[in-house]
Amino acid sequence: MKYPFSIRIFHWVSAALILGLLILGIYMTPYDESNMPFADGLYFWHKSFGVLMFLIVIFRFYNRKKHTLPELPSTLPKHEKFAAHVVHKGLYLLMIIIPLIGYIQSSSYEYSGGVPFFIMYLPEIITKDATVFAVSNFLHRWLSYLFILLLTCHILGALKHRFFDKENDVLNRII
Ligand code: HEM
Ligand code: HEM
Repeated sequence: MKYPFSIRIFHWVSAALILGLLILGIYMTPYDESNMPFADGLYFWHKSFGVLMFLIVIFRFYNRKKHTLPELPSTLPKHEKFAAHVVHKGLYLLMIIIPLIGYIQSSSYEYSGGVPFFIMYLPEIITKDATVFAVSNFLHRWLSYLFILLLTCHILGALKHRFFDKENDVLNRII
């Protein structure tokens, strides 16, 4: 049984957006005098797409609740089922927390005025504070690296079942 169509669409649209955000995020930092004019434009797009990603995840959750999802194959060993659940939950949790912390980071930064969202600026939810900025900057970075680690396990797991363990191929269900 395949995942419902809307869940598959959400999966691949968010996958493309998140990969873009990770690459852009790493490419545009560190923000210093040498790359400031260039990075300013990229920060605008990173923040706008980051907020969009957050909204998409909220819709994704809502949509997921409305559907019955296929069970993992019964032939999958227990420890692999457990690993798949932990990785999926971890990815979902980080898809919520990382943009929220990004928003706090952007709001608390001394020199920013409003959080860009394509054609408008959203209100800053935190007053300017160097300590809040430093902590949220640290968390946004390291949680993103943790996300990359989980994502690597997720992709390698899917490819392993696809190519080395065909009876448990799950990729087919999500494409
Ligand atoms: C799922 C969504 C997001 C992902 C995966 C993501 C990922 C990243 C990554 C990987 C970096 C580079 C970290 C480093 O190497 O220092 C970064 C930097 C940054 N992100 Fe995000 N981000 C997301 C959403 C957001 C949002 C919503 C905002 C703000 C509204 C935001 C604001 C920033 C800022 C300001 C930086 C630069 C930090 C610095 O200059 O040190 N991000 N992001
Ligand atoms: C940023 C990128 C990605 C994220 C955040 C992500 C996240 C997720 C999540 C949370 C699920 C669970 C679906 C649910 O129960 O609602 C899932 C399912 C799945 N993903 Fe990804 N994914 C990403 C990229 C990929 C890629 C590149 C592949 C292919 C190599 C892939 C293969 C799969 C497969 C096969 C499933 C279905 C697993 C099952 O049958 O239970 N994903 N993904």
